[in-house]
Amino acid sequence: MKGIILSGGAGTRLHPVTLPVSKQLLPVYDKPMIYYPLSVLMLAGITDILLISTPRDLPHFERLLGDGSALGISIDYAVQETPRGLADAFVVGADHVGDDSVALILGDNIFHGPRFSELLRTNASDVDGCVLFGYPVTDPHRYGVGETDRAGNLVSIEEKPARPRSNKAITGLYLYDNDVVDIAKNISPSARGELEITDVNRVYLERGKAKLVELGRGFAWLDTGTHDSLLQAGQYVQTLEHRQGVRIACIEEIALRMGYIDAPACHALGAALAKTGYGQYLMAVAAEHDRAA
Ligand code: DAU
Repeated sequence: MKGIILSGGAGTRLHPVTLPVSKQLLPVYDKPMIYYPLSVLMLAGITDILLISTPRDLPHFERLLGDGSALGISIDYAVQETPRGLADAFVVGADHVGDDSVALILGDNIFHGPRFSELLRTNASDVDGCVLFGYPVTDPHRYGVGETDRAGNLVSIEEKPARPRSNKAITGLYLYDNDVVDIAKNISPSARGELEITDVNRVYLERGKAKLVELGRGFAWLDTGTHDSLLQAGQYVQTLEHRQGVRIACIEEIALRMGYIDAPACHALGAALAKTGYGQYLMAVAAEHDRAA
């Protein structure tokens, strides 16, 4: 399965902070926001990733993440000239997807929860149709909303409905079979001129091939859309990291644990940041990994 991180947009709701810098490069406590969605793809076992952003911001992501080889993965880059919608990721990324299945994640989505890696890997293997992830929220009108029947089957999907039929937001992580490229190329732009991901998902629903996996209680899908929610997301990460002494979405640690890099490589990545708690953590994780081996 291939991966795409869509990380463009103008970040207007976070102006003036995002006037000179991409929203997805803003810090969420101790690391750039983009580490969080990248870590999700890595945990799903996806190592061939395309990052899509604006002409202005793409070079900054490249400077941060390079070609991915330091993490034992491959990261390619593509420009989205204007924000033509989430489904445009499959038009821009058609060559990257090739004849494979694909996971799309939005660069501003933060997920954290127990056994998430297992859940991802189970659902990512042999996708037939699409797999969406639902999360209960108090303000569903701000999101794509999924409605299920008593058996848990998805029966409707609406984008930002004025009167939501459920409290289940569709999160910004989507798994698709290869049909998604053709579907995205054939849908019409919405009234706001965008290729809507909800329209793609509705095609799958009509074919009887859309599955909703519910992320239940105890799971965190954090909002980063406003100054307040961004700060709260950082505080959530800070609280857990201080309490447990582990780091969330630490891409170097994940690369080590997934076997993409070895302990000396992880140690070297930490040594390059030795003046920071983050670098010291990486060196400690590498040493512990060596001891356990
Ligand atoms: O976060 C989950 C929600 O994401 C879903 O529930 C909705 O169904 C889905 O439409 C989307 O809603 P948003 O209101 O968050 O979409 P927005 O247009 O703000 O775009 C989400 C992110 O994707 C944002 O960080 C900017 C980036 N983006 C957006 C567009 C339209 C791009 O990189 N390119 C684009 O063309």
